[in-house]
Amino acid sequence: MSNYSMDTKCVQGGYTPGNGEPRQIPIVQSTTFKYATSSDMGKLFDLEASGYFYTRLQNPTNDYVAAKIAELEGGSAAMLTSSGQAANFFALFNICEAGSHVVASSSIYGGTFNLLAVTMAKMGIETTFVSPDATDEELAAAFKDNTRAVFGETIANPALTVLDIEKFAKAAHDHGVPLIIDNTFPTPVNCRPIEWGADIVTHSTTKYMDGHGVAVGGAIVDSGKFDWMAHADKFPGLTTPDDSYHGIVYAEKFGKEGAFITKATSQLMRDLGSIQSPQNAFYLNLGLESLHVRMPKHVENGQAVAEFLEKHEKVVKVNYPGLKSDPYYDRAMKYMGNGGCGVVSFEIAGGREAAEAFMGKLKICAIETHVADARTCCLNPATSTHRQMTDEQLNAAGIPAGLIRISCGLEDKKDLIADIEQALA
Ligand SMILES: Cc1ncc(COP(=O)(O)O)c(C=O)c1O
Repeated sequence: MSNYSMDTKCVQGGYTPGNGEPRQIPIVQSTTFKYATSSDMGKLFDLEASGYFYTRLQNPTNDYVAAKIAELEGGSAAMLTSSGQAANFFALFNICEAGSHVVASSSIYGGTFNLLAVTMAKMGIETTFVSPDATDEELAAAFKDNTRAVFGETIANPALTVLDIEKFAKAAHDHGVPLIIDNTFPTPVNCRPIEWGADIVTHSTTKYMDGHGVAVGGAIVDSGKFDWMAHADKFPGLTTPDDSYHGIVYAEKFGKEGAFITKATSQLMRDLGSIQSPQNAFYLNLGLESLHVRMPKHVENGQAVAEFLEKHEKVVKVNYPGLKSDPYYDRAMKYMGNGGCGVVSFEIAGGREAAEAFMGKLKICAIETHVADARTCCLNPATSTHRQMTDEQLNAAGIPAGLIRISCGLEDKKDLIADIEQALA
């Protein structure tokens, strides 16, 4: 489908039924797959033949949907995971081990920050966090001999900073390591990081890709462009024999295009599990079929709400990269000319009491810990996700007590603005 447009790929990518086969992607609700002889199945275990034997590693429903996401991102291969957290962990752990080091943007989703700063640190993988606005010199200074990956988010949740993907890609490549980009917020409809130099792209498909608040999931896409063999000493897991697969060298057997996803599937999924259920993959595909129609509407609503809030006297500050006044406007225009996403954050005058009172008056916008849903939802970190922190700690973390994140859904923007206006009043 590589010659077709984004819209056609969203609707028809990944799955082309043959004569008499189901028009919609079938849900293969089976843990296991039957073979006529042991040697037929043995070839799968040796990675000599491709096919299915156990859904903890691979399932046809998931593979159809992963193939669609690979087409949307312009990658060579993809896989689905049980969550966005699993996607980011697998993407990193596929090339990092105890003693490795990661350079990551400090402006990323809190769950990913914890994954890197706490859980992976306990596994012996250390991370240096850099500003998304780091200069070339500051970025270069963060690398070490044992650096194995650079990580960032296209539009960060919740700070809504925009990453300079080309700059981060160049720094990664100058140091012989890949750039991994979490592209959850813009989705490939609004930004395709591989076209700007990213090597691996991850998603929390729970967000816009699903788009209806139905199924938690994740995805990893490989660009197929990173030359693992050219940096063989840094990536022994891909470039030296895997004893658990009869000495296969992934980068030799599957090449640049297939090595990363084959290893993550056959080794990490086998040993750690975390596959997306076929039923959830089916729901995800329903979301993907309308992604190209929904994203422009999310952006339209986000832009309208941000412009309304910017002019309101009870609003101290608005963060939305689509606003000309936003420090990330120029970068957003470069990487996401059609807009980024529908998530807006703003600081209400009066701190946490005002935020709580405002949110309690909203009628359409529901209070939720979710984002990127068809229904508008909002959250005040100070009274929810970050409620253990004092106002001073919140300010130091760049999350003022009066900060509210609104994820604009697909409702009529006039109704959303009217709801926000009456709640502010
Ligand atoms: C940018 C980003 N990446 C990853 C995640 C984690 O995804 P999940 O909740 O599907 O595990 C989230 C969750 O909000 C997110 O916003």
